[in-house]
Parts: sequence; C-alpha cells; structure tokens
Amino acid sequence: MEGMLKPGSLSGKTIIITGGGTGLGRSMGKYFLELGANLVITSRKMDVIEKTAAELIAETGGKVLAVQCDVRKYEEVENVLQQTESTFGQISGVLNNAAGNFISPTERLSHRAFDIVVDIVLKGTYYTTLAAGKNWIAKKQPGVFLNIVTTYAWTGSGYVVPSACGKAGVLALTRSLAVEWAKYKIRSNAIAPGPFPTKGAWSRLLPGDLVKQFDPAERIPLKRVGEHQELANLAAYLMSDYSAYVNGEVITIDGGEWLRNGGEFSHLEAIPDELWDSIEKMRGK
Ligand code: HXC
Ligand code: NAP
Repeated sequence: MEGMLKPGSLSGKTIIITGGGTGLGRSMGKYFLELGANLVITSRKMDVIEKTAAELIAETGGKVLAVQCDVRKYEEVENVLQQTESTFGQISGVLNNAAGNFISPTERLSHRAFDIVVDIVLKGTYYTTLAAGKNWIAKKQPGVFLNIVTTYAWTGSGYVVPSACGKAGVLALTRSLAVEWAKYKIRSNAIAPGPFPTKGAWSRLLPGDLVKQFDPAERIPLKRVGEHQELANLAAYLMSDYSAYVNGEVITIDGGEWLRNGGEFSHLEAIPDELWDSIEKMRGK
C-alpha cells in the first residue's frame, strides 16, 4: 500500500485530472503531488474541488489549482487549459477520470438518462482530448493521456449499458490516438479498474442494502477490492517518463475479476475439497 515510484518522479510535470475532487481522481492526484507534480483538478462542483485543493495542499505541500468545468462544455474545457497554462506554464498530462453512472434495467431509462452518462463519459473525454491534443500539437509539445475505463468496456454489461457504451468509446479513442498522434509525441493509455470503494461509485452502483447482498469481493479471485494506492501507483507510472514506450495499452487492475467471471468453469470454486475427492473417485485414476 506504499507509493511505488522514486521521489520526484513527476517533478516539473503539470497534470490535469477531470473529476479530480473526489474518489479515485483525488487519490491519484494526491500521489502525483507527492511525486512532485503540479496538479489541476476540475469538476462541476466548485465547492468540492476548492475544498479538495485546500486539503491536498495541506497534506502534500504541493501546488493545486481548482477550475470549475463541466466536461460536456467545450468552452469550459478550453478555459481549463488556459488557466493551467497561465498558472503553471506547459501542460504535461491529462487524466480523463470524470464519469457518470448508475444501475438500471435499460428499458427503464429515458433517452435523457442514457444521454447524461454517455455525454459525461464519452463526449467529456473526447472534448478534453481534442482540446489538449490540439494545444500540444500547435505548440509542438509532447503529452500524455491516461483514460479511466472499466473492464466492461470490452465485455459489455447489463444494467450499466450507457456507461458500457461510453467506456467502450473511450477505449477506442485511446487506441486510435495512440497510433495517430504518436508522431506528435503524444501517448495515450487507459486503466481498467475493477471495484475500488468510493462514495460516488458505491452509492450509485450498490445503493442501500445491495452492498450487503452483492459483496464485490466475492466475485474477485483475490477476494478483496482494490486499494486506492494500488491504482495511484499504476496511474503515476503511466503518467511518468518511465512508461515512455507504453502507448495504446489498457491495463486491467481488478484482482482477476473479469477473467474469472467470463471463465466457463470458474464457478467450480464452489466445490469443496471433499467433493473433489469423490469426483476423483468417480472418474477413476
Ligand atoms: C434511472 C436516472 C437515474 C437512475 C438519474 N437518472 N439517475 N435514471 N436511474 N439512478 C435520469 C434522470 O431521471 C434524468 O432523466 C437524467 O437521468 C438526468 O438526471 P439528473 O439527476 O438531472 O442528472 P445530474 O444531476 O446531472 O446527475 C448526473 C448523474 C449522477 C450521472 C445522474 O449520478 C452524477 O452526478 N454522477 C456523477 C458521479 C458518478 O456517477 N460517479 C460514479 C462513477 S462509477 P429524465 O428523463 O428524468 O430527465 C463508475 C464505475 C464503473 O463509473 C465500474 C465499476 C466496477
Ligand atoms: P466519483 O468519486 O463519483 O468520481 C467521478 C467524478 O466525475 C466526480 O468528481 C464528479 O464531480 C465528476 N464529474 C461527473 N460529471 C462531470 C461533468 N459533467 N464534468 C466534470 N466532472 C464531472 O467516482 P469514482 O469511483 O472515483 O470514479 C472515478 C473514475 O473511475 C470514473 O471514470 C469511473 O468510471 C472509474 N471507475 C471506478 C471504479 C470504482 O470501483 N470506483 C471502477 C472502475 C472504473 P462533480 O459531480 O463535481 O462534477
């Protein structure tokens, strides 16, 4: 649960995190600061990001700028870039982390409910990516994109269909631009986390008693959920120059969850040892 990279691994870098005021965005941002980066956190709620910025400055002694931005509004995204440059100079990396999500049978969704999730996840990510990419290309500066997806970006998943559609689009964006923009020295990678407890995700995906009925750890071969520092370590590596040759990759950090649940015979873990003894006798040696 400790930080993995050498002190100063991100010094001199300025990193923007969308949705950086809460949950995983906050945890990754805190570690970037500990490694010497300047941080810009954005989201719709100014009170939340201002409070987080003050806490992070007190906790790490680093420099944090909070800029209000709804990622679905291109002018607001451009404003974040301008504010970042006038405060810190060059932008080094963008962590596309902002998301919206909730569980629902798809037939119960209004078209506005579908829009709201896809707009935050996919439109928000391509707006930020387009604005930052154009900026880097025009200024002939290198840059790094790191996009937070989920494992159901490629498997799909019932009951979170707008999120699955949005995250699948983000994964396609990541892989496409990794190739197209490599010539500008812009790298694009993604992380697909399994369950990491946050108020934002847990309250919307496991509301009320659901958290007691569906313990996420039960579905995970390692029998536990993720620790924020484990994700922060991976994100810091992908933002740092140590990953200079990693481009177009999506790294899963889920304790083996998605493979286990796609495996034809994974459910046989329910068979106790004594039953395996009788199965062995039945088949003979
Ligand atoms: C069905 C819903 C709904 C729900 C909202 N809507 N919640 N429909 N079930 N639970 C519908 C509304 O009825 C409305 O449609 C439309 O969606 C917009 O709703 P608003 O409440 O007006 O939207 P807004 O206040 O902007 O809130 C956006 C939000 C909210 C996405 C609905 O949840 C939010 O702010 N989320 C941000 C943070 C977040 O979601 N974090 C979790 C990420 S977790 P009508 O037709 O009535 O107008 C994650 C983990 C993935 O992604 C993987 C885990 C392993
Ligand atoms: P979270 O705390 O709810 O984070 C989501 C953030 O997005 C919030 O800070 C929210 O802030 C921001 N946001 C939402 N709509 C926005 C908009 N229109 N413009 C700008 N910002 C917006 O949840 P989390 O669990 O940390 O999730 C972070 C990321 O990890 C998401 O991409 C999520 O899909 C991904 N993820 C999480 C898990 C998990 O288990 N926690 C698993 C897989 C993937 P405002 O409301 O202030 O705008």
